Amino acid sequence: MSRIYLSPPDVGPRDHEAVERAFRGGWIAPLGPEVDAFEEELAAATGRSHGAALASGTAALHLALLLAGVGDGDKVLVSSLTFSATVNAIRYVGAEPVFIDSDMHSWNMDPDLLEVALASDRYAACIPVDIYGQCADYSRIEPLCAAHGVPLIADAAESLGATHRGRPAGSFGAMATLSFNGNKIVTTSGGGALVTDEAEWARKARWLATQARDPAPHYEHSTVGYNYRLSNLLAALGRSQLSDLKRRVEERRAHNQFYREALGDLPGVEFMPEPADNRSTFWLTVLTIDPDEAGVDREMIRLHLESLDIEARPVWKPMHLQPVFADFPVLGGDVSARLFERGLCIPSGSSLSEPQRDRVVSAIREAFGGS
Ligand SMILES: Cc1ncc(COP(=O)(O)O)c(C=O)c1O
Repeated sequence: MSRIYLSPPDVGPRDHEAVERAFRGGWIAPLGPEVDAFEEELAAATGRSHGAALASGTAALHLALLLAGVGDGDKVLVSSLTFSATVNAIRYVGAEPVFIDSDMHSWNMDPDLLEVALASDRYAACIPVDIYGQCADYSRIEPLCAAHGVPLIADAAESLGATHRGRPAGSFGAMATLSFNGNKIVTTSGGGALVTDEAEWARKARWLATQARDPAPHYEHSTVGYNYRLSNLLAALGRSQLSDLKRRVEERRAHNQFYREALGDLPGVEFMPEPADNRSTFWLTVLTIDPDEAGVDREMIRLHLESLDIEARPVWKPMHLQPVFADFPVLGGDVSARLFERGLCIPSGSSLSEPQRDRVVSAIREAFGGS
């Protein structure tokens, strides 16, 4: 039996054709018609006016911070429950993260803690992260940041296709960043984007991403630039993947529903909640295991799955517990720490088959000592 992966790329013949089309078009470069069209389609998918296609989600975060004017010694509010890339980008510009814990309703940035933080200090930016396919509570976060004049950058790397109160992920804040890494709902093997309503920011993002070349016949530079643009070939793949986003979301949501029904009766098991005003993509299905009730812990289940060639992963280890960021302050911290201790991400890819799903369920039930 073949290995079941957590969230492998879902690619098909249409994707192959799209990349071949780009090859035939002759633009084998980090610019070209596929990049331009991908940017327009990304802006449309996120309810934005503009998009800049980039080499990664991390590059998008880095540029968003530069565009917001964040620099040396500035403080940036950020979700503690995230992948390290969000915080690495804060460090690239010399700024200092101030971590905010998750709430239990959506596992995203706790707006009550954000309110406390905003009342007590000045911040150069705020980066809520839409975790595991679910938007943060922007209905509260947007007005809070606006009232304190703090630029809001939404890290929507994991939430493309989700909505909050009917508005699409990526539409919140001054800018939002996306990732098309191999494990994401839409992949370009590696890639990312910055989306915004400000034409000038999109233009400047593209300019910074192509080594900040000034207008001149020779190579003239007045600013430090980066090589962060997305290849035209990969943009073609991104377009083909994005055109299929709706199906990808439906597949992942169906897996989530299936797992809830098939595993919901197990003692001590709960699933990541979905507040009524959110529609998650369930990019990953995540469950928590209370070891006292379950009689097994998250790690025992993960190892059992691994022994059966099924990939599962602990929830992100919060950034305030990472050795590299241990010196930076955190508001709260217990909620994300507990989610890390108890949370397990299970196979959720949009190409996961029904027999594979059944295998995952049987393996988890076996780990609980039953069938
Ligand atoms: C929340 C979050 N932010 C940022 C990134 C970084 O994106 P990339 O890998 O495209 O640089 C990722 C995932 O990879 C992520 O999950």
